[in-house]
Amino acid sequence: MPSSRQHVPTARHAASLARAAWHRGLATIGLTHSERRISADAQSYWAEPADEDWKDNSHWADGPVFGNSDLWREIGRRHLELFHRGARLAEFTRPWDRIVEWGCGGGANAVHFAPRAREEFVGIDISADSLAECEKQVKGVCDTPFRGVEIDVTDPEAVLRHVTEPCDIFLCLYVFEVLPTPEYGQRVLRLAHRMLAPGGLALVQIKYDDGRWVSKPRRRAYKSGVSQMTTYPIAGFWQLAERCGFKPEGIELVPQNELDERYAYFFLSK
Ligand SMILES: C[S@@+](CC[C@H](N)C(=O)[O-])C[C@H]1O[C@@H](n2cnc3c(N)ncnc32)[C@H](O)[C@@H]1O
Repeated sequence: MPSSRQHVPTARHAASLARAAWHRGLATIGLTHSERRISADAQSYWAEPADEDWKDNSHWADGPVFGNSDLWREIGRRHLELFHRGARLAEFTRPWDRIVEWGCGGGANAVHFAPRAREEFVGIDISADSLAECEKQVKGVCDTPFRGVEIDVTDPEAVLRHVTEPCDIFLCLYVFEVLPTPEYGQRVLRLAHRMLAPGGLALVQIKYDDGRWVSKPRRRAYKSGVSQMTTYPIAGFWQLAERCGFKPEGIELVPQNELDERYAYFFLSK
């Protein structure tokens, strides 16, 4: 998701960097917030479309960061190409009947993947507004049925009561970084594995920890550092995926793009 440096004046960017360093420093000396508190902050942040930053962060097509550029369309187009590359690598052959996207936001990926789903596209999100926006965008490009599933941050496992049929493809893009903690991310990975059919393929993007202390999970002050909350070392995430039952097939790295930096895409098969 867009880091503040992409579209704000330098003074505000400098303030944001200073704030990030301050919070990482406090977390390093043990002054972290509880997962319960971080989750409550996340819930209240995403539930209410507060301002233009919120639209940018939720990847709505009319968010100012996307402006009049083609960037919003590019996000999903690149992810679709990436998925095709991963599918070849993993020898993924299942028909694309049901596609699930965890944290579908304003539909930047959905508009590219939903037209290719033969049965339905399932969008999961904690924001009812983003689910409605995603559905609107999908309806604008295809007739594939869209099912929106709203969950509460504290209870991601509730998704299993709504998505009872296995999916062929699981997507989670620009979302792991905004999850409350790395431990929470593990819950999402386990759910992804539960939802996927045998032979299914997941494409999961994380922001990676490159060893510098500023790239560690933030573990406090969610609202002032939404996209800095959860990171993993690349090898650590590979092993985590294995512990969750996946077979990691490959990784593609994007050290920097128009939105932010330190992205790793994992192709995980079941
Ligand atoms: C940066 S947007 C990404 C949207 C879309 N995946 C994309 O690539 O354009 C992050 C989305 O994740 C959602 N989100 C945040 N925490 C979540 C959680 N715990 N479970 C599911 N969705 C979540 C937000 O509401 C928002 O729509």
